[in-house]
Amino acid sequence: MSDLNSLAEQYSTPLYVYDFDEISERFNELKLAFKGRKSIISYAVKSNSNMSVIQHLGAMDAGADCVSIGEVKRAFAAGIPKYKIIFSGVGKRDDEIREALALDILFINLESEAEMKRVELIARDLDIKARISIRVNPNIDPKTHPYISTGLHENKFGVEFDVAKRMYILAKQSDFLDPVGVHFHIGSQLTELQPIVESATIVADLVRSLKSIDIELKFFDIGGGLGVVYDNETTIEPYEYAQAIMSCLTGLDLTVVLEPGRYIMANAGVFLTKVLYEKINGDKRFVIVDGAMNDLLRPSLYNAYHKVELFGKDEDKTKADIVGPVCESGDFLAKDVEISPTNHNDLIVVKSAGAYGFVMSSNYNTRGRAAEVALENGKARLIRPRERYEDLVSSELGLMK
Ligand code: LLP
Repeated sequence: MSDLNSLAEQYSTPLYVYDFDEISERFNELKLAFKGRKSIISYAVKSNSNMSVIQHLGAMDAGADCVSIGEVKRAFAAGIPKYKIIFSGVGKRDDEIREALALDILFINLESEAEMKRVELIARDLDIKARISIRVNPNIDPKTHPYISTGLHENKFGVEFDVAKRMYILAKQSDFLDPVGVHFHIGSQLTELQPIVESATIVADLVRSLKSIDIELKFFDIGGGLGVVYDNETTIEPYEYAQAIMSCLTGLDLTVVLEPGRYIMANAGVFLTKVLYEKINGDKRFVIVDGAMNDLLRPSLYNAYHKVELFGKDEDKTKADIVGPVCESGDFLAKDVEISPTNHNDLIVVKSAGAYGFVMSSNYNTRGRAAEVALENGKARLIRPRERYEDLVSSELGLMK
């Protein structure tokens, strides 16, 4: 990435910077892997929902996988066509379902029989036929962090195969439901192909058995989950991924829907933060920076590893924790990393922060959320301003007695 130090000067810190050319590369890599197949790459908006990011991907033909009506509206506003927008999630409210149906998106992913009943009721009220897909839970261990594992019966996601089959039969009989797809997503940051292939195989068998009773699906939604390199992980090659999925679909005429988030965004983004102070407690060294868990939650929440680099210095390294100003012991960006002695205002670059970074940030401790900057063709532009104190309190001030 171009001169991060001058971006930090110009836009101040903490700051997210995304390389839009890198985003294009990752997206095109996936597109190429599935070339010649009927496929829709529905970008998982939850991973980074900045409007300019969605717009950039939309211009390259991406669809959008959304998990709230807010995300659906973002996708629309960013120019994603309605026939490429899907709405997933385990707990949709009536008003969200109603709005999504009225917007005529590609389909709604259902996660329970109870939800299907609500969708049918609302579709009846709107006098339309709702296109639906059912998320099945293949009960396969994805071998990833338990917080981002979703494909086991012990997780809240999807329905068992027997239940799914019953739902498809009911949907087929309904005047207000049109079963068009099947969906599975077994977890995120997947680094092994085997669990994905096992899941795709049994889900494809379900599609075949539905076909035999005259329920013809059109979409095979394989979710997201492709892992990326944060440290030194071995990851899945998009081409192998595509080949493996396709080999499960012999004899079936289906459009494959992908919902990648992390794969496209994680390594296209960095989080920039500046050193405030250093201190030593006993024999523990702390580097205190202006970015915190409210800006980048992954280290605190999942003990996730993000590589950190002290800009322009590489000598006399000793171990330190990089910590933020938030009043929590769990507020850290990195633990026990080797880092040179720092000075006030030195820049620290936190890598792989493009996915599940800004989107998981909060205003904890009345800290305004960071600014976001896009880099494209060597040029930087602001895509979200830093939140000011006034932005945080204005709606409350008006409600005081
Ligand atoms: N589709 C579904 C149904 C999902 O649940 C997810 C992610 C995706 C697609 C996108 O997955 P991806 O391609 O990005 O792996 N906050 C966590 C990640 C949570 C992922 C939740 N679901 C983290 O920071 O690692």
